[in-house]
Amino acid sequence: MQWGVGNLGRRRDGSTRGRIRAGAVLLVLAFLAVTGLFGYGFRFLTYQSLGPEQPIPFSHRLHAGVKGIHCRFCHPFVERSARAGIPEVGKCLYCHNYIIRQHPQILKEHRYYDTGEPVPWKRLFITADHVQFRHQPHILRGFDCTECHGPVQTFDRLPHHQFRMGFCIQCHRKNNGPLSCWLACHN
Ligand code: HEC
Ligand code: HEC
Ligand code: HEC
Ligand code: HEC
Repeated sequence: MQWGVGNLGRRRDGSTRGRIRAGAVLLVLAFLAVTGLFGYGFRFLTYQSLGPEQPIPFSHRLHAGVKGIHCRFCHPFVERSARAGIPEVGKCLYCHNYIIRQHPQILKEHRYYDTGEPVPWKRLFITADHVQFRHQPHILRGFDCTECHGPVQTFDRLPHHQFRMGFCIQCHRKNNGPLSCWLACHN
């Protein structure tokens, strides 16, 4: 072996090799510890970005992703009004009167439907109270939902997100949106 380092290189007996091997094992352990911690940290972060539980575990990944149902089928008002709209449970039953109709979560949908009580979905994407945001002009300008909401069709549970003014301003600068905040975007 010609690649002994420093003192280690002088004695090429079993104990040196043992030390080299022990060193290698330590290195591997350190590597695993670091990647393990990183992995944990990563999972912790993504867990944090997973949204709150909803009254019915509705999955955008399954409906909009896997089944390819259009966003506008359930959020039909985006290009006509300020709000996108959350579908009434009757719209779910449109399909679920036929699809997995005995599923416990679908039976729950029926209870909301029969009592007329709206499903208490938790609001997730929010702006500060004094901010005026309307979907219509943005959608008519051709922006995709993902520009502001991220890859919704990949989430089983949408994250909670508070929009910051910097985000709005940055895009307005780039695309000639209004920049006079107090006239355009604030009450
Ligand atoms: C089958 C109906 C359905 C389809 C299709 C659908 N959604 Fe939804 N969406 C819902 C329901 C129900 C909620 C409320 C529960 C929730 O947050 O998961 C919701 C919530 C949301 C919210 C959060 C609203 C809030 O509280 O701030 C956004 C954003 C959203 N959808 C965007 C999209 C986009 C983008 C697509 C297409 C990629 C899409 N949705 C497709 C039914 C649907
Ligand atoms: C256009 C048809 C369609 C509409 C509208 C629809 N779904 Fe579904 N949904 C499906 C299909 C397809 C499946 C998959 C069924 C299966 O697993 O075979 C499904 C599955 C589900 C499941 C079971 C998921 C699981 O993990 O087993 C739930 C819960 C659900 N939908 C809730 C809803 C809610 C709430 C709404 C209304 C906001 C809704 N769906 C609207 C087609 C629809
Ligand atoms: C330019 C950014 C932007 C785009 C593009 C956008 N949204 Fe939004 N969306 C927002 C903001 C900001 C809010 C929060 C509004 C508030 O707090 O009143 C929101 C709220 C929502 C909500 C919840 C409340 C409601 O009814 O409005 C839904 C659902 C939604 N968006 C769906 C969509 C869908 C579907 C699309 C694509 C067709 C889309 N959004 C495109 C910025 C955007
Ligand atoms: C992806 C780029 C983009 C983002 C993000 C965006 N905007 Fe805009 N916004 C535009 C553009 C471009 C226009 C000009 C649209 C037109 O006049 O055709 C506009 C127009 C507006 C208008 C004037 C039209 C109206 O509704 O009266 C307001 C107000 C506004 N945006 C508020 C906001 C707020 C608040 C946010 C952040 C929550 C935001 N925008 C995020 C691109 C964006």
